[in-house]
Amino acid sequence: MDIIHISAECYPAAKVGGLADVVGALPKYQALMGHSATVLMPFYHGKFSRENEFSTFFSGFARLGHTNFAFNVLKPKTNTLGYELLLIDIPGLFDRDNVYSYHDDSERFITFQIAALNWLREREKTPDVVHCHDQHTGFIPFMMSKVREYQRFENVPTVFTIHNGQYQGQFGFDRLYYLPPFHSYFNGLVEWHNLINPLASAIKCAWRVTTVSPSYLDEISYSMNGMEELLRTERGKSLGILNGIDADVWNPETDPMLEKNFDVKTADEGKKANKDLLCSQFGLDPSKPLFTFIGRLVGEKGADILPDIIYDVLHYSPGEQNILILGSGEKHVEHALLQLEDQFKGNYCSYIGYNERLSHLIYAGADFLLMPSRVEPCGLNQMYALRYGTVPIVRRTGGLRDTVTDIGDNGFGVCHDQCTKSDVTHAIHRAKLLYQNKRTFKKVRKQIMEIDHSWNKAALEYIELYQSLKL
Ligand code: ADP
Ligand code: GLC
Repeated sequence: MDIIHISAECYPAAKVGGLADVVGALPKYQALMGHSATVLMPFYHGKFSRENEFSTFFSGFARLGHTNFAFNVLKPKTNTLGYELLLIDIPGLFDRDNVYSYHDDSERFITFQIAALNWLREREKTPDVVHCHDQHTGFIPFMMSKVREYQRFENVPTVFTIHNGQYQGQFGFDRLYYLPPFHSYFNGLVEWHNLINPLASAIKCAWRVTTVSPSYLDEISYSMNGMEELLRTERGKSLGILNGIDADVWNPETDPMLEKNFDVKTADEGKKANKDLLCSQFGLDPSKPLFTFIGRLVGEKGADILPDIIYDVLHYSPGEQNILILGSGEKHVEHALLQLEDQFKGNYCSYIGYNERLSHLIYAGADFLLMPSRVEPCGLNQMYALRYGTVPIVRRTGGLRDTVTDIGDNGFGVCHDQCTKSDVTHAIHRAKLLYQNKRTFKKVRKQIMEIDHSWNKAALEYIELYQSLKL
């Protein structure tokens, strides 16, 4: 099949979170299965654009309201990704360092979507399916089916994946002119609660909607920032497909970012070497169990309760464990995390910022990874942790519920029900008991490293879904 993925992120070209990991891996697995997979994304002026060379593949214009934008479609001169990567360069809108969080994000991503369809319209071959990811690409299914300029795509199936329903991208009807002209009869297809909402539009217009785990699909029918009713209405065309991980990038045997590579047989020595390095870097004692957290420091991830948890655990059971946090996000959380460092020097440290290498080292060197998420559509961290022999401690929600079962049920993680200080501290207490029982701990570690969370299964599920849409 000829598959086009459209996304705001794709690893390694631009990554803010798990969306990038998914869009950077799923097409590779689809290509390995014999399909043609292409990723279309904006060309940001970050590290990837500075460190690679590109050739211009297509030049055109996109119109946003009354303004014309010139755009170029670029290709990296060397591509070893395993799928085709095309980057849309729109000067004035994407030649900035960051992916999101600009005042004109709506304009930026609508222009990107229009440019993407303008290029696709000129492409010789009509794709078999267009697979869009998250709200930044949410108007594509609508435009392909209801905007006259793109009539050529009326019968091209669209799949829309909700990676995170918290971010919806809504804006006022005063900016309806951002979208290319369409009959006002279709206004309802871009609207939700009296605002223009790309996520709602995608859920209404895509041929199929998927979520990144089955449990998340169930949860959003009763909790998704006011869009529950729409999800219930469109449930018939929706499906939960659990994400996989890129087992080549996330492989402790070959990962170049580790201090020492290891496999199931050499996990004890391998993990120890990585833990020793981490502990020496952060002034921690490697003989203690190491609890870690990696992620965006936002309410969704339960990051706001981390400072209280750290205080409680280290104050009431001093010297029994170490805690290391890697993340960035809400300033008050960052500040609270940093403030605790002096008080618990030697047992706690936080690295505020984004650091890909450090994240790999933590997955490899930690004993436990905390994920107290309030909302977790899938979560990749727990799957990376499992592959690197680190026991996940997760709140039972979304994809965490679908990937981690509790040691008490013959599983391989520590699960808790609420995103509260008491639930998490109790889970940490249970984890320490597991750590003390060396035989069981080693057994669990071996067991988790052998779980196959690679994309093989999910990539096939997506192909079957696309094939079911063939006219
Ligand atoms: P989300 O996409 O909601 O942030 P996921 O669990 O799907 O959550 O994916 C998060 C990804 O981002 C993982 O690859 C994780 O290792 C990475 N990550 C998050 N924060 C950081 C950070 N501060 N430094 C390095 N990697 C990070
Ligand atoms: C989102 C979700 C996360 C998921 C990722 C990849 O960012 O918050 O849970 O793993 O997308 O699908």
